[in-house]
Amino acid sequence: MWKGRFQKETSDLVKRYGESVSFDWRLYAQDIRGSMAQAEALQRAKIITATECRQIKAGLREIEKDIREGRFTWKFSLEDVHMNIESALTERIGAAGAKLHTARSRNDQVATDARLYCRDEAAAILELIGQLQRSLVASAAAHAAVILPGYTHLQRGQPVLFGHHVLAYVEMLARDAGRLGDAVSRLNVLPLGSGALAGSTIVLDREYMAERLGFAGVTRNSMDAVSDRDFMAEILFAIALCGVHLSRLAEDIILWASAEFAFVTLDDAHTTGSSLMPQKKNPDVAELTRGKSGRLIGNLVSLLTTLKGLPMTYNRDLQEDKERLFDSIDTIKLALAVNAEMIAGMRVNADACRAAASDPFLLATDLADYLVKKGLPFRHAHDVIGKLTAYSLDQRRGFPAFTLDEFRQFSDLFDEDVFAVLDLEHALDARRATGAPSPAYLAAEIKRWQKVLGPARRAR
Ligand code: ARG
Repeated sequence: MWKGRFQKETSDLVKRYGESVSFDWRLYAQDIRGSMAQAEALQRAKIITATECRQIKAGLREIEKDIREGRFTWKFSLEDVHMNIESALTERIGAAGAKLHTARSRNDQVATDARLYCRDEAAAILELIGQLQRSLVASAAAHAAVILPGYTHLQRGQPVLFGHHVLAYVEMLARDAGRLGDAVSRLNVLPLGSGALAGSTIVLDREYMAERLGFAGVTRNSMDAVSDRDFMAEILFAIALCGVHLSRLAEDIILWASAEFAFVTLDDAHTTGSSLMPQKKNPDVAELTRGKSGRLIGNLVSLLTTLKGLPMTYNRDLQEDKERLFDSIDTIKLALAVNAEMIAGMRVNADACRAAASDPFLLATDLADYLVKKGLPFRHAHDVIGKLTAYSLDQRRGFPAFTLDEFRQFSDLFDEDVFAVLDLEHALDARRATGAPSPAYLAAEIKRWQKVLGPARRAR
């Protein structure tokens, strides 16, 4: 495709080193879409006739069908997806095919394909995020009344509702979806027409091509357009952070599924056994999710590292962007899908949760609040309950086992009504602020999410 000025064949090693078709073949649908728009623009600019345009489009459609049905032979000697398709087109339709690459470079072509690909895949990821969110909301709804300890520093802190804990992940995923949406709105501009780096003396109607390809506009600087991979970095970041969220969820589930917590039981379909220890049931899905998050972060860092020293404009280093992108997209899609399935099959052991939440110390803060409501400054109340805690540990008796007289040894503000404070249901009911885990608020949040997320859609 560029042999004119060369007298020697490319070395076989260089061919192996430089080919990208073994992975960028995945851009074929986007590449063909871009070429269709290019052909139409060439016709509008009177570079090709209407007949040639029709031939090109029919040829491209045929090639797309062959690729989809596994009948297309990819040639490594043709380096990448772009040259493979263009060469096949010329083989099939002759001269008209050789006109397609007018006023276009693989530099603006690959930038266009990559943006289209990111846009398509972001939509698929958003769908899967929604699916996992629906699964989490369904679990929150099914176990709405289950109380368990909330932790800081992995030490028991205060009681929360299981649903409230789970909806925290729904919030994180909503931000992930928002970030992907933001990235798409920024990437949705057409680079085609930027040529190799400086446009072309053959001027195509870029706005027309943009409209044909569903872009909201065109890039404003040809040099930036062919070398910009910010959009990929943004997508990779959004995916990496989503992976970090899934990893945190995974860690909770791994803890919860342990005999020490026993808050949940995972379905057999989402666990594995041990080849040595017959009793084992391991949370491998969660562990893999935690593990794969490292790879998603790695892909982001890898791309940023590739980009950081590049002079203007296109440099072949940029070919290194795609495997990271594909890997992150594949990984997050599968992770979201399998986690949605795992959460849907996860059973919650309400009794174990309740037993852990019945640790009286979880209500120590509520006791301090009780004294505050009786007029004691919080710092003093904190101190009183701290001493009460030490006494409780020393006595090996929980707060509810104390008599009123015992409470009064620490503050005369204690009254009969203190015992109501030590009730878990009361403690949760009292947390009425927006964002806090009262049952009423949880119920409203579950309803809100069900409305926002809508009914389950079929996975793609
Ligand atoms: N395979 C190349 C890539 O992925 C396409 C662009 C090649 N451009 C060039 N001037 N060699 O980046």
